Amino acid sequence: MSVTVRVPAKVNVQLAVGAARPDGFHDLANVFLAVGLYDEVTVTPSPDGLRVTCEGPDADQVPLDSSNLAARAAIALARRHGRTPDVHLHIAKDIPVAGGMAGGSADGAGALLACEALWGTGATREELLDICAELGSDVPFSLVGGAALGVGRGEKLTPLDVGGTFHWVFAMAERGLSTPAVFREFDRLAEGTAVPEPVASRDLLDALAKGDPDALAAAVSNDLQPAALSLFPELADTLAAGRAAGALTGLVSGSGPTTAFLVRDAGSAEQVAEALRASGTCRSVRVAAGPVVGATVV
Ligand code: C5P
Repeated sequence: MSVTVRVPAKVNVQLAVGAARPDGFHDLANVFLAVGLYDEVTVTPSPDGLRVTCEGPDADQVPLDSSNLAARAAIALARRHGRTPDVHLHIAKDIPVAGGMAGGSADGAGALLACEALWGTGATREELLDICAELGSDVPFSLVGGAALGVGRGEKLTPLDVGGTFHWVFAMAERGLSTPAVFREFDRLAEGTAVPEPVASRDLLDALAKGDPDALAAAVSNDLQPAALSLFPELADTLAAGRAAGALTGLVSGSGPTTAFLVRDAGSAEQVAEALRASGTCRSVRVAAGPVVGATVV
């Protein structure tokens, strides 16, 4: 008996970041869009106790101990329901690791939903979302998918209407970036300036609701992008290559270093992807569209 859950990656079409809070986190206005690049988490009973394995191009960079969000999700759900987390979690990883596309968060949400289905704990959706928020700021969105505005640390979600499918090209970088390091760099760059309260852009929400790629391209923003570029200056070359290839816009995805290019349709996605591959400014290139549904048992 085993259960497999498929979980999408995300791109942040807006990431507005406020000043550092006393707890070290930052208040955000974070507009998430789930896109069709997926990790799959399979859970199987394991008499020898909790075990994590991983396959995929980046598998050697994935921690297999209890720091893995999938392991932490199984432990958190088991503890709440008075059981031991004696499962084997296998992650088939297609979302880039340390890429700013919520790959680790996807595995946390996937393991949680898979363990819930395997054990039949009867946990409510609300309880699952609470556990997700404990695991990390982006994990609730990985469970929910679609498009949503996240406030607080990014974990308090409001679903958003989207009037069409948006086509994207993603350029994966040669190395990863640590999210805490990018937020620290944000703080360093902001030192001595007044950081405004993060608010969602009305133009951006309208563009999503209309399904209008030109309007969305004009409205996207990422306050972490200067920090990511400061730590990883070569990303500017990737952004320039994607824009020169005809993307409507390009931006760093979340804390990076994956760069995301919005294009008008599936045909231009293939063209921009080909040009980015030929540019030699990134490790690999993928095409994906969104919104797509969140974590789903397959
Ligand atoms: O919530 P999560 O564990 O994914 O966050 C990883 C790190 O990113 C935090 O430890 C913090 O340094 C930074 N972060 C932040 N403000 C947020 C979300 C994350 O400073 N809203």
